[in-house]
Amino acid sequence: MSGKVVLAYSGGLDTSVAIKWIKEKYDLDVVTLTVDVGANDRDLQTVKERALEIGAVKALVRDVKDEFVKYFIWPALQAGALYEGEYPLATALARPLIAWHLVQVAREEGCTAVAHGCTGKGNDQVRFDVSINVLGPDLKIIAPVREWRMTRDEEIEYARANNIPLLSVSQKRFSVDQNLWGRSVEAGPLEDPWNEPPEEAYEWTGHPEEWPDQPEEITLDFEKGIPVALNGDRMDGTSLITKLNTLAGKHGIGRIDHIENRLVGIKSREVYEAPGAVVLHKAHTWIEDLTMTRDAARFKAKVAAEYADMVYNGQWFSPLHQDLAAYVASSQRFATGTIRLKLYKGNVIKSGSQSPKSLYNFSLATYDKGDQYNHDAAIGFINIFGLSLRNQAQTQLKGNTPDDMLSLGTSEETTR
Ligand code: ARG
Repeated sequence: MSGKVVLAYSGGLDTSVAIKWIKEKYDLDVVTLTVDVGANDRDLQTVKERALEIGAVKALVRDVKDEFVKYFIWPALQAGALYEGEYPLATALARPLIAWHLVQVAREEGCTAVAHGCTGKGNDQVRFDVSINVLGPDLKIIAPVREWRMTRDEEIEYARANNIPLLSVSQKRFSVDQNLWGRSVEAGPLEDPWNEPPEEAYEWTGHPEEWPDQPEEITLDFEKGIPVALNGDRMDGTSLITKLNTLAGKHGIGRIDHIENRLVGIKSREVYEAPGAVVLHKAHTWIEDLTMTRDAARFKAKVAAEYADMVYNGQWFSPLHQDLAAYVASSQRFATGTIRLKLYKGNVIKSGSQSPKSLYNFSLATYDKGDQYNHDAAIGFINIFGLSLRNQAQTQLKGNTPDDMLSLGTSEETTR
């Protein structure tokens, strides 16, 4: 009797071929799992039928959008998680959730193995494998694409030979992964970093000539670091992100062209479209600007970089991520307020910000009437603050000429 495997199935060429290939190579019955993480480019009913047509014994489709938002996207937004300061991590955030569902289905369906369509060169294989190892250590992992080493043409040939119906093996020049939080596009002409990304790489952001000539002003309300309303309308996260993707995408916002460092040591060029994520990250930072103390903000920026690395590197189900997440959640207790901003030709421009927890203090900041800042105290403060530099100058810089002082620290003279 052959066992069963659950395969993460997208409906694309790789995973379609995998259904047949796994049966042939491992003699396992294939249950497919297609998760809806939002912004799908395929009709999931069609995807399901196709899986069965190819030979899956069962084809499951799960809508996980709300979980994705609640447990992955919002925490990452609160963390300020941008990999290498640029990539909002759409693909990386979805992987642990998909892995979690794969393991659930494996249990429900009595599977002994789990399969995914990742190659051996990317980050996604690491994210899946590490997450599955944690959640279901007894499950065998099969990664057909990593194992078979067929070229794309050979795969198409295999599909033809095995009567595998292919939906869209169009002249796809790119490899695309997308969900609610963004679109990741790589390969084809993007592999030469000097090539300008062709316009057809972009789908969520209009062509530059079509970006409206009028800016569009919107408001975003945050509660404890979570966006709860767009233009004053309270809505669930999935709707808010979906709406914002459309709104901001129309104005060309969210194009990111990133030469990134993969975990496996390769530099790769990836083009992202993440209109909603880019707007929300900016707006969220502006709420924190208003509500966080200087020290808290400095420290959180360090945590954000660590957190982003952990997500990127597939360590979602790790104790360190759990601890950082707890810090992030705590850091958001005052991050409540409203941002007013304009969307205009690829730019997110702040109009204004306000918060009931704002630390902005008019009577301290103003240069006008009502100033309560103690100017005399500044003199004493500077006297102490600058003490060590005065001391150093009087001893170590004594004989320096004005020109010496000008060139201090330059390659002309670094030793004075
Ligand atoms: N480079 C991104 C990451 O590692 C996206 C990977 C998937 N990209 C793709 N075009 N298939 O998270």
